[in-house]
Amino acid sequence: MIIPGAETQAFGAALADATDERLGRVEYERFADGEHVVRVPEAVAGERAVVVASTVDSDAHVQLLQLQDAVREAGASEVVTVVPYMGYARQDQAFKPGEPVSSRAVARAISTGTDRVVTVNPHEPAVCDFFTVPATHVNAAAVLADPLPPLETPLFLSPDEGAIGLAETVRDAYGDGETDFFEKDRDYDSGEITITPSDTPVAGRDVVLVDDIIATGSTMSESVAVLNDRGAGRVFVTCVHPMLASNALTTLSAAGVEAVYGTDTLERAVSEVSAASVVADKL
Ligand code: R5P
Repeated sequence: MIIPGAETQAFGAALADATDERLGRVEYERFADGEHVVRVPEAVAGERAVVVASTVDSDAHVQLLQLQDAVREAGASEVVTVVPYMGYARQDQAFKPGEPVSSRAVARAISTGTDRVVTVNPHEPAVCDFFTVPATHVNAAAVLADPLPPLETPLFLSPDEGAIGLAETVRDAYGDGETDFFEKDRDYDSGEITITPSDTPVAGRDVVLVDDIIATGSTMSESVAVLNDRGAGRVFVTCVHPMLASNALTTLSAAGVEAVYGTDTLERAVSEVSAASVVADKL
């Protein structure tokens, strides 16, 4: 049975479709003091329970742990945990003295309630090593090619070298075009992003920017500004995890993007495509 977290209901339904497993109806409530309580009213004893929850915020983390515990308590024979978007994954080291390795802390907590874990495009695949149960990750970037219209001399571009593999995946799925990457520097005190473009000509070309996540939108909007300065044609902004914190979508629209596409690992207005079928192959 597929057991979705409150913030991951569309993904849960898509995963139930893709796997032909039953979609469990979950009740999400809060006590008067604000604490969460979840309920899984349907019988799950003796069957596999697949808990699906993006840990988009601290509340979602708690709900995920509760869902794991609820299905174990109800006698599930196996608990598989799917974390389509793993929160805190980008704090994969103590960047400043005194800081935690947050991704290790949350991975250990998630491991206590499950037999195995599947996650989607973590910022660094090595984060899977922090789980104390078998953990694997899938690359869902190929689905980002689906909503793209026919493109003129397309260039699939990542804002930094670390995401070039994602740009290549989307290009391969689209079936045509070049790939390249920019260089990105982030000032960790001010948060300011500096983008240094490559020499690849962009004038008049349709450009598809690809990254794992859009958080504040600074990385993408700075990249779009550089592309516009250089006379690019239409600029499409794509990512696996459309976090789109605060006014990120407005920032991108103001930068002049043609469209923003993300997957449903985070359920947002731009979640045009589902990563569920890619996850289903690992279940
Ligand atoms: C970092 O390297 C990631 O791949 C993303 O580029 C980054 O997290 C995006 O953040 P923001 O949207 O805040 O610039």
